[in-house]
Amino acid sequence: NGAAQVLVASNRGPVSYAVEDDGSLRAKRGGGGLVSGLSAIGPDAGALWVCSVLSDGDREAVRRGVGEDGVRMLDVPADVHADAYNGIANSVLWFVHHMLYQTPLEPVFDAEFRRQWASYEAYNRAFAEALAEEAARGAAVLVQDYHLTLVPGMLRELRPDLRIAHFSHTPWAPPEYFAMLPDDIARQVLRGMLGADRLGFLTQRWADAFTACCERFADGLGRTRIGVHGLGADADFLRSRSREADVEERIAALREEIGEGRRTIVRVDRTELSKNIVRGLLAYRQLLDERPEWRERVVHVAFAYPSRQDLAVYRDYTAEVRRLAEEINERYGTPGWRPVVLHVRDDFARSLAAYRLADVALVNPIRDGMNLVAKEVPVVSEAGCALVLSREAGAHEELGEDALTVNPYDVVETARALHEALTMGPDERAERTERLAAAATALPPARWFLEQLEALLHGPASR
Ligand code: G6P
Repeated sequence: NGAAQVLVASNRGPVSYAVEDDGSLRAKRGGGGLVSGLSAIGPDAGALWVCSVLSDGDREAVRRGVGEDGVRMLDVPADVHADAYNGIANSVLWFVHHMLYQTPLEPVFDAEFRRQWASYEAYNRAFAEALAEEAARGAAVLVQDYHLTLVPGMLRELRPDLRIAHFSHTPWAPPEYFAMLPDDIARQVLRGMLGADRLGFLTQRWADAFTACCERFADGLGRTRIGVHGLGADADFLRSRSREADVEERIAALREEIGEGRRTIVRVDRTELSKNIVRGLLAYRQLLDERPEWRERVVHVAFAYPSRQDLAVYRDYTAEVRRLAEEINERYGTPGWRPVVLHVRDDFARSLAAYRLADVALVNPIRDGMNLVAKEVPVVSEAGCALVLSREAGAHEELGEDALTVNPYDVVETARALHEALTMGPDERAERTERLAAAATALPPARWFLEQLEALLHGPASR
């Protein structure tokens, strides 16, 4: 047995490394909701965070013994990781839970899929073995997300003494969609997860979908308990971080790009298929078309940061986002006004600057586990910000009342919601923003984590 009392396992860890031209290693904070939530535990919490090498830089860091306290990076062979991460996790499980397939042609579960699935099993086994080695007797292990669904079951066999939890940061597919997976694979995923004492989801809707899948493909939940933990924004961190000098600099630069006296419609996303950036641009174009009074008076500030660029669909999607932004700028732009300001280079300080300047935030995902941007903007925005929010984002369960709700597929409705948001009176905006910020910060990351740890350690054991 190892020495760690609390262990976290995820594919992406808190840092990743890039090799610079001079051979040195540059550390970079990981993106996405999972890392944002878990970063609150920090190294002082005494937890060990087990994650995977994701890049050549990470592999080099492991080789040189560079790393952070409390983090162990698993050096999974590159081809196994590519099959498990790109092939299975991001092209199959992510697509199933976000319902992203264009079903006349996809998915196709062929021999290649089976080969990749074997890598996914090997990858999960590598995590289970490392966790079994590092965990002290009776330790708590909190496994994260769809990359690691088989780990709870595998770890339970290796170490029956451990308390094991799994948390899903994504939506969960309804059973009729989940049923696209081959039967044996669907069962393996569910049984793997049911090896945990506790399973966590971001909203009741996703928890219910999981339970329904278990009723159809397994014999119900067995003794595993389900908890709903709606990860919130970290108000203290956001408020202080967004006042730092680098953010002030970005504000000045953004003001230049936007121009004097104009309203802003802000969105910040990974360039992710489920975020619906393209329909957001179409809705903005519709607004300029239908309401010419907004021309010259509004700017759509869209940050779409690179994500999963090993996958062709993501590269194509990124290209389409760029193409459409350019098309709108060519069609409507004037010498003094660029209707869309698109940035694709990841810059956290600039995201916070945009949050501060936002008059309207556009969060219109097709489907989203939670969506932390919807929760962060109201906390940071200066003048109060109207939130246009998809009913399919998990955050809608908590923020729906004070947001302007849209059907993410309906660009005409979204355009009208943008108009309504832009014309909302300052008092109403401020009041709504205050209530949004309160709801958004109800369960800050540190408490979100502790709540699960407490339940795992002191709640009833499943076995
Ligand atoms: C989502 C997932 C996370 C993932 C993040 C970023 O939030 O739930 O597990 O880390 O996206 O995606 P990436 O593939 O870059 O890790």
